[in-house]
Amino acid sequence: MSEIPLRRNRAQSRVLHRASAAEPAVAVGGEGCWLIDQDGRRYLDASGGAAVSCLGHGDPRVRAAILAQLDRVAFAHTGFFTNEPMERLADLLSEAAPEGFGKVCFVSGGSEAIESALKIARQHAVERGDLARTRVIARRQSYHGNTLGALSATGNVGRRRPFLPWVMGDVVHVAPCHAYRYRLPGESDTGYGARLAAEFERELLIQGPETVLAFLAEPVVGATLGAVPAVEGYFKAIREICTRHGVLLILDEVMCGMGRTGHTFACEADGIAPDIIVMAKGLGAGYQPIGAVLVSDEIARVIETGRLGLTTGHTYMGHPVACAAALAVQEAIRDDGLVARVREMGPVFERLLREGLGDRPYVGDIRGRGFFRGIELVADRESKAPFPAGAGLWKKIKEEAFARGLICYPGGGTVDGLSGDHVLLAPPFIATEEELALAIDRLGAAIDAALAATGLAAA
Ligand SMILES: Cc1ncc(COP(=O)(O)O)c(C=O)c1O
Repeated sequence: MSEIPLRRNRAQSRVLHRASAAEPAVAVGGEGCWLIDQDGRRYLDASGGAAVSCLGHGDPRVRAAILAQLDRVAFAHTGFFTNEPMERLADLLSEAAPEGFGKVCFVSGGSEAIESALKIARQHAVERGDLARTRVIARRQSYHGNTLGALSATGNVGRRRPFLPWVMGDVVHVAPCHAYRYRLPGESDTGYGARLAAEFERELLIQGPETVLAFLAEPVVGATLGAVPAVEGYFKAIREICTRHGVLLILDEVMCGMGRTGHTFACEADGIAPDIIVMAKGLGAGYQPIGAVLVSDEIARVIETGRLGLTTGHTYMGHPVACAAALAVQEAIRDDGLVARVREMGPVFERLLREGLGDRPYVGDIRGRGFFRGIELVADRESKAPFPAGAGLWKKIKEEAFARGLICYPGGGTVDGLSGDHVLLAPPFIATEEELALAIDRLGAAIDAALAATGLAAA
């Protein structure tokens, strides 16, 4: 085998590629906020891939932890063994979590973690003899993963559509909390949040609360809407309704969690604690595939004293190398004070975005928290009319940005699942002010070029 990675076009490659480029760039290196391809081109990773690389690339502490674990043991099945990094990572997470979250289950990514959360919620109901509780209420315009259970809960129209015949019937979707688009004229944030919570409770009553297992939501909606937090008070009202009706509240923090918003857990900003928190992406920061489900002490008690034993399981759960990497990542984030840094730099990032892009006629909204920011693009700022869906603006932006050495995460269907375009930025927590400014500069140029290439004139 050659030492130098082969550059192959799609016809030559035997990989069923996800990247649409005719000849995908070959990643050969990573340093801090930068990725490097085979030709030595450097790309500023302003979205951490898909909100993954929160620590940046090439951290020597994580490398050392992975190698040290490989020298001890690479794999020992969790049906027989526990392992030290898994135990220590569970300690670290439960110490950082809201009060009363004492137990964690580790899997290999976000979708697996969502599947496990749903199964743990169901098992909790079964062990309590609450057999009628099967239904999940989730939100439109959400993404919870690509496996069939997670996709069933997902409210992203485009990602669900090809698989509709297979998705679970027992999921009901309610409105997302998206003030820029759906708050009524003259309605306050508080009024909007209260209206949505009342709509949720009405749906709960229509379904029959005794049949509803859980409400699943992203505290800050990531890929589908582009970093949309809920309005003040919304999640407090949802929490209260769930508690009153015995419905578990599951928060999907796969993308927005582990410090990305300037809080270790995104729900801290909403002032609530759910019953189950789901994590992935930033947990291992891309150094290893890992996801986790953090459950309340009450759920853990029911499962651990129940008849069934933990019924969700995968071969690679609690993988020692993945846990060692995630432990090193989280220790580095703690030791370097990076969550506090994101909290402090978040307003700087927002200011740079507003200064760099805010006056452009096609920028409808700039939003988000910490290092998790979204820019929604519109054909007309006044009416908020989106660009035509068929033009594929977001895809062109991704291409133009990459050509300018910028990795960002554009998405479509922002308005209703079909039309609308946004760009998500989720830089590593170590990004400097200069790197943030450079990313915004390159993004502005990429959007201009994409608008020109798609023949869309900004209003
Ligand atoms: C909020 C959210 N949940 C779940 C997932 C699924 O995670 P994974 O792609 O690791 O399976 C994603 C992935 O983007 C996500 O953003």
